[in-house]
Amino acid sequence: MWWRFTPLLGLVAAPALAAHPQCILALPSTNPTPLAAHSPTSSVPVSSQTSTFPTPSSTPFVAFPYGSTPIRGVNLGGWFVLEPWITPSIFINTKNDAIVDEYTFGQMQDYQTALGVLRQHWDTWITEEDFMAIAAAGLTHVRLPIGYWSVPSNVSVSPYIPGAWSYIQRAVTWARKHGLHTIIDLHGAPGSQNGYDNSGRRTNSPQWALHPANVNATLAIMQVIASQLGPQVDAIELLNEVAGFYGQVWDSAVRDYWRRGFDAVRQAAGDDVVVVLGDAFEGVNNWQGFFPDPQGNRVMMDYHEYQIFSDGELSRSHDQHIQFVCRNILPNLAAFASNNMWTVSGEWSTAITDCAQWLNGRGTGARWDGSIGGGGTIFGSCEGFTGNWTTFSQDYVAFLRKYWEVQVELGEAVQGWIYWTWKTESADEWSYQKGVEGGWIPQDPSQRLYPGLCNGT
Ligand SMILES: *[C@@H]1O[C@H](CO)[C@@H](O)[C@H](O)[C@H]1NC(C)=O
Ligand SMILES: *[C@@H]1O[C@H](CO)[C@@H](O)[C@H](O)[C@H]1NC(C)=O
Ligand SMILES: *[C@@H]1O[C@H](CO)[C@@H](O)[C@H](O)[C@H]1NC(C)=O
Repeated sequence: MWWRFTPLLGLVAAPALAAHPQCILALPSTNPTPLAAHSPTSSVPVSSQTSTFPTPSSTPFVAFPYGSTPIRGVNLGGWFVLEPWITPSIFINTKNDAIVDEYTFGQMQDYQTALGVLRQHWDTWITEEDFMAIAAAGLTHVRLPIGYWSVPSNVSVSPYIPGAWSYIQRAVTWARKHGLHTIIDLHGAPGSQNGYDNSGRRTNSPQWALHPANVNATLAIMQVIASQLGPQVDAIELLNEVAGFYGQVWDSAVRDYWRRGFDAVRQAAGDDVVVVLGDAFEGVNNWQGFFPDPQGNRVMMDYHEYQIFSDGELSRSHDQHIQFVCRNILPNLAAFASNNMWTVSGEWSTAITDCAQWLNGRGTGARWDGSIGGGGTIFGSCEGFTGNWTTFSQDYVAFLRKYWEVQVELGEAVQGWIYWTWKTESADEWSYQKGVEGGWIPQDPSQRLYPGLCNGT
């Protein structure tokens, strides 16, 4: 059993690593004072925060060996960017069906009312106890999606409601305190980079790439993120899920932005922080050779893997979902990772239906049971696929475990994985927390019931 304790040797050695200048950070875990105004000067300078030794309860923070040790992480979805399907109650409580995203949440309500609800949410959706539970679940990383409207800058954000910045700073502090590495992920950009509610604004006509002013404003936001949070986080993701499928203008804009965003982060936060970019739904092969010497550049590709957003994907059997990971995704992603840049499977889940309420948007149904309309294939009832896991069948739970394992196998064939998402109000098939509770996600993520699922496929 001695080997089980070897990680402790690493921890004991940590004080020597305190040479890593930003290692030690402790802030009081009291409620942050919400920012009165959306101005850069109202946030606490980073330098005044790096003062104390860790409290006895905190875990020494050790630099993460990217490229040689897999990231095992979880997304903190629905916290700093509202998503109706993750927290339906927040939307139901508005008693206004037209409030479908964080943009309309600010636009269609009294400012103080909306701010009050948001503060309550920022304070309670994820707490320090969650960071402790994430660390106790053997995870190494959290990915923290944030909206541009929460970052103090001179970019105008109305009707979004600013004020989350101090809560974001506190989140980063909690992560470090509990030995977790943070990937800050810009998840919503001016104009919306994809039109999904998870960009902050649900629209058929996203504007981000269509106006250079939006891209420039995003760079100004990135500059603030990198300079203020860079010293405390491991990685900064320039922008989540840019809709490159809209064509040439979008592809050019995102290429331009990846290069300028990389430079902005390097200039503001130095060479250590990992810069994360995405495939813009164009496939990783579209990004071959994009950065020369990617390992020297510390650049990482964030690939997202879901098999539920089209009839073709929904029609796969359980075995076919697993085989698809092994045969279609893994070889391609592994080849890209070894020939290009570090690669992480940065969003995926164990869901095999789109049955979670409002997953396709508030007021929108599911493809699975046809409630979305439009005359697509109907695969069956949603009953038993979502909601409270205590209603799930044994067969379904057994499959969730297998599907979790094969996607972990995918992630560990490259530089790691980050599950979407830690917590949901009522869609347990998406919840890492519920997976651990229900046993389809092991408390020790290296444990396998189905080792080598992709061998021989
Ligand atoms: C916003 O701030 C940036 C740098 O902080 C500055 O270069 C730019 O001119 C400012 N823009 C406006 C509209 O004030
Ligand atoms: C965007 O920034 C570039 C580079 O600084 C500048 O040349 C361009 O004029 C800016 N465009 C707008 C619309 O602000
Ligand atoms: C799920 O169902 C169980 C058993 O009925 C119940 O104890 C639990 O409170 C439910 N969880 C939620 C979040 O409603």
